[in-house]
Amino acid sequence: MGAVYVVGMGPGGLPHLTLRAMEVLKAADAIVGYTRYVELIAPLTADKEIFSTGMTREIERCEKAIALAREGKTVAMVSSGDAGIYGMAGLVMQVAMRRGEPVPIEVIPGVPSFVSAAAILGAPLMHDFASISLSDLLTDWEKIEGRLLAAAKADFVIVLYNPKSGKRTEGLKKAVSIIAAHREGNTPVGIVRNATREGEDAVITTLSGFHLYYDKIDMLTIVIVGNSTTFTHEHRMITPRGYKGV
Ligand SMILES: C[S@@+](CC[C@H](N)C(=O)[O-])C[C@H]1O[C@@H](n2cnc3c(N)ncnc32)[C@H](O)[C@@H]1O
Repeated sequence: MGAVYVVGMGPGGLPHLTLRAMEVLKAADAIVGYTRYVELIAPLTADKEIFSTGMTREIERCEKAIALAREGKTVAMVSSGDAGIYGMAGLVMQVAMRRGEPVPIEVIPGVPSFVSAAAILGAPLMHDFASISLSDLLTDWEKIEGRLLAAAKADFVIVLYNPKSGKRTEGLKKAVSIIAAHREGNTPVGIVRNATREGEDAVITTLSGFHLYYDKIDMLTIVIVGNSTTFTHEHRMITPRGYKGV
């Protein structure tokens, strides 16, 4: 019996892989993943069996990874950022469980994209924060709205994942208006596209000015909305932790 390693690749190219992820990728017999991510690690995988697919074929990728491991192969199933955050780790475990096909599965943590985005913006996550995905493909929009409202009322810094896609354009506007009903218009908002990879772009605006950047936001973007104490200084977004005397 082989094993499936679910490898968090980090948000960008090779410099953002952890050493452990690099080791696992080098040792693997087979690589399974979304085509775009498999391409990013091509320099490490030239001699390996590759199974890659486009979006929406996640279950098929899990089935393939499990089948290869049951043939005795060491499989690295790659996932962007951290595999356990809106990634492939839970799904491969569920597929193995449902199919009754036990196989050793190990999760190799990666740097999540919101952590990289926060570092690019400054230090917006120094206090409690909530992460909310705006994708309603797998979650009802009512639930997403409820979470946005609760996080906004509780004054969490709010990280918005999957903010907008070609087809899903209205959710982000609704999300920002829910948050804006509970925050000042001058609350800082950071927008980071392609964190740590080619085409990286970051901007800091405010809740009132957010609409000016709406068209630039897509599925390669993370949005971080500050809490009531977040401020900007010299192009940095900072959420104070509460230290006295600074
Ligand atoms: C399916 S989720 C994957 C999250 C990933 N597992 C993580 O740990 O960050 C995809 C979403 O992550 C965000 N994302 C992933 N990589 C990114 C990057 N390099 N820059 C900005 N956002 C990114 C975008 O919001 C995108 O729509």
